[in-house]
This record gives sequence, C-alpha cells and structure tokens, in this order.
Amino acid sequence: MQKIGVIPGDGIGPEVISEARKVLNAVTERNHLTLEFEEFPLGATHYLSTGEILSEETIQRLSKKDAVLLGALGDPRVKPGVLEKGILLRLRFHFDQYVNLRPVRLLEGVPCLLAGENRKVDMYFVRENTEDFYVGLGGRVKKGLSKTELELKRRAYEAKFDIGIELEGEEELAFQIGVITRHGARRVMEFAFQLAKSKSISLVTSVDKANVLTDMYGIWREAAEEISAKYGIAKEYQYVDAIALLMIRNPERFQLLVTPNLFGDILTDLGAALQGGLGFAPSGNINPSGVSMFEPVHGSAPDIAGKGLANPIGAILSAALMLDTLGHAQVALDIEKAVAAVLREGKHRTADIGGKSSTSTMGDAVVAKLRKA
Ligand code: NAD
Ligand code: IPM
Ligand code: MN
Repeated sequence: MQKIGVIPGDGIGPEVISEARKVLNAVTERNHLTLEFEEFPLGATHYLSTGEILSEETIQRLSKKDAVLLGALGDPRVKPGVLEKGILLRLRFHFDQYVNLRPVRLLEGVPCLLAGENRKVDMYFVRENTEDFYVGLGGRVKKGLSKTELELKRRAYEAKFDIGIELEGEEELAFQIGVITRHGARRVMEFAFQLAKSKSISLVTSVDKANVLTDMYGIWREAAEEISAKYGIAKEYQYVDAIALLMIRNPERFQLLVTPNLFGDILTDLGAALQGGLGFAPSGNINPSGVSMFEPVHGSAPDIAGKGLANPIGAILSAALMLDTLGHAQVALDIEKAVAAVLREGKHRTADIGGKSSTSTMGDAVVAKLRKA
C-alpha cells in the first residue's frame, strides 16, 4: 500500500485533481494496486477563513506520505506570492525536491501552437528546484544606511548574509539574491545525465546565462562539465535567450534540457505551448530519496475556474508520472496510452483546443479507454 497526500488547492486545482483521482481509481482497481489518499484542504479558502497558510503539523503529516499530488495554488483574493511561496515553494524546499521534471511531448491529435504540420516535440526539462532566484533572499531599503541579515537554510547547508547598503541619490532600492551551490548544481546534473542514460538520449542541453550572470551560471557550467564527463553523452551549452528562439524555430533538435530554476520556469510554459497549451503539461517535484510531489505545470486559472472548462490532461499525466516514480512504470504507461488514444481519436476535446468537452467528460473518456484496454 502506498499513501498519497492530495492538495487540490485553488481555482481549477480541485477540478483537475478530481479527474486525476478518477483515473487513479480506475487503474488501481484493474491492477490490484492499493493507494490510500488523504486530502489536505490548503489554499486560499483555508487561509482566508483560518489565517493559516501551512502548519508544521501538516508538513509532518505530509512527510509520512509516499508522494503528494497537488492541483494548483494562487487566488485573486490573496496577494501574489503568499500561497505560492507559503505552500508550494515551502513544500518543494522542505522536502528538498531538487528536481522539477517536466516532460514536453506533443501528442497526436493535439494542435501545436507552432506553425507547420506534424511537428515532433518530445523533450524533457530537468529544472533545478531549490536554488537560483527562488531562494527568497531579498529586501527593500530606503535612502541612507541600512543593514539586512538574511539566512538560507537547506538540508545540506546553511548560508548567512550580512548586507549593509548605503543608498544615495535614490529614494528606494529593491534587491533579490540568487544562489547556486556546487552541490546544488551537481546533483541536478547527475539526475539529468542519469535520466538521459536511462532514456537513451544522445544530446543534453545545459541552459544558462553565463555570459552575464557569470558567477552563478559559471558554477552551473562547471558542474555540467564535471558530471557530463562521467557519462559518454554529448552535451551542449546554450544561453537562455537563444533557447527561447530555438524552441520555436527547431524544437525537434532538443531531447533533454537541464536548467536553473527561473529559466526553467519560463521555458516550460513555452514548452507547454509547444505541446498544445498549459492544460497538457505534467510535472514532478522530485527528491529521489524522499517525498516527491506531482502537479500540472499550470496554475489555478481563476479566469476559467468553476466552469468545467479546465483541461485535466496535465493533472492526469502528473498522476501517471507519480505512479512511474513510485515504481509502477507499466501502470503509468497504461494511463499515458489511454490519454494518447483519447486525444488521437479527437472525439473529446476541451475548450482550450477548440473542443466542447467538459473537464469531467475528458476524465471519463480516459477512464473508459483504460477499462477497454
Ligand atoms: P495559469 O496557468 O493559471 O493560467 C494561464 C492561462 O492558461 C489562463 O488563461 C488559463 O485559463 C489557462 N489555463 C491554465 N491551465 C489550464 C487548463 N488546465 N485548461 C485550460 N486552460 C488552462 O497562470 P496565471 O494566470 O499566470 O496564474 C494564476 C494563478 O496561479 C496565480 O496565482 C499564479 O501564481 C498561480 N500559479 C500556480 C502554479 C502552481 O500552483 N503550480 C503554477 C502557475 C501559476
Ligand atoms: C510553476 C509555478 C511556480 C514556480 C510558482 C507558482 C511558485 O509557476 O510551478 O511553474 O514559479 O515554480
Ligand atoms: Mn511556472
């Protein structure tokens, strides 16, 4: 038996998670798998009614799970960042989920947002998930002298910053510090090259901006150089701006991209566009020796929430990625095949790709396909 913590979250989160659960129930019945679910009602409603964002007790309960399945967080009633940083990022950091794995695959029957017929889009993003400009170190200071003490705590290290700023000729300044450690860069590179090896990938693309942010992405490149030397797999370095263009012009050339946190965030929304839209994109926040958390790449989409318009495929594929990581590769593949078959047939399509099917019709279609297989 494996224990799954479920955080449906805000906006369309609960709607897409309910479809992912339907699909999980269908495959567990069929394969005599036992998954035990516990729901955690975190998000805007919980915060606005109790004032609590994420308690230490909830973290402790989640730490006893084998995996976590999450919908989305963020709500127009709450200031940007409160729930995103307070829940999502806090969990990614607490559980040291240092890899954000985002497969970008265009399935047959789904229109790619790029021009041209029959585009082949099939690549993995391995996004670093605990460092870079996401570490939450920053501040705002006014004219004159100021002192700020900042602290970064991770499982493997601790760093204290003592920052004195003397600001003249300007009324206010804001700063945000990015951090990449050698250990942090090495471990995500190791994961990327291992994955490349297991998937018979012949080219790994390391993304950075080492021509401008020379310190942070200098260390990133050194780690890429060091780890790649151990695997006889071809690698290349590309600047993030060039990647943005190349992903549009020639997505076929990419197999696996390993990126720092912020660039990976941006490029995977672009990747989602290549695979038909945000509604199709799955992801996993992975700690290979800890609790991992799976979620669609999209957010809470308040513009379509509560209308049955959300595409649940990204959430369903995230559930498949969860099963794969939990050691049920064949069951995960069955889900992916059922999703691919439904999309190929084209009878059921959500509004994001011009169809009329509701969120639950789409989930039902995947379940029906699984039952027939
Ligand atoms: P978003 O991903 O929620 O939505 C962007 C656009 O894509 C919207 O037009 C939306 O309708 C559409 N869309 C997204 N998912 C869809 C789906 N499954 N089916 C059909 N259409 C879909 O991004 P946003 O609007 O920038 O952010 C909304 C909120 O979500 C913010 O609070 C943001 O911080 C948060 N957010 C959370 C996560 C997460 O929890 N992992 C990820 C991204 C954004
Ligand atoms: C994502 C989201 C998150 C991120 C936000 C909501 C914190 O955009 O998962 O891509 O920036 O990582
Ligand atoms: Mn994002």
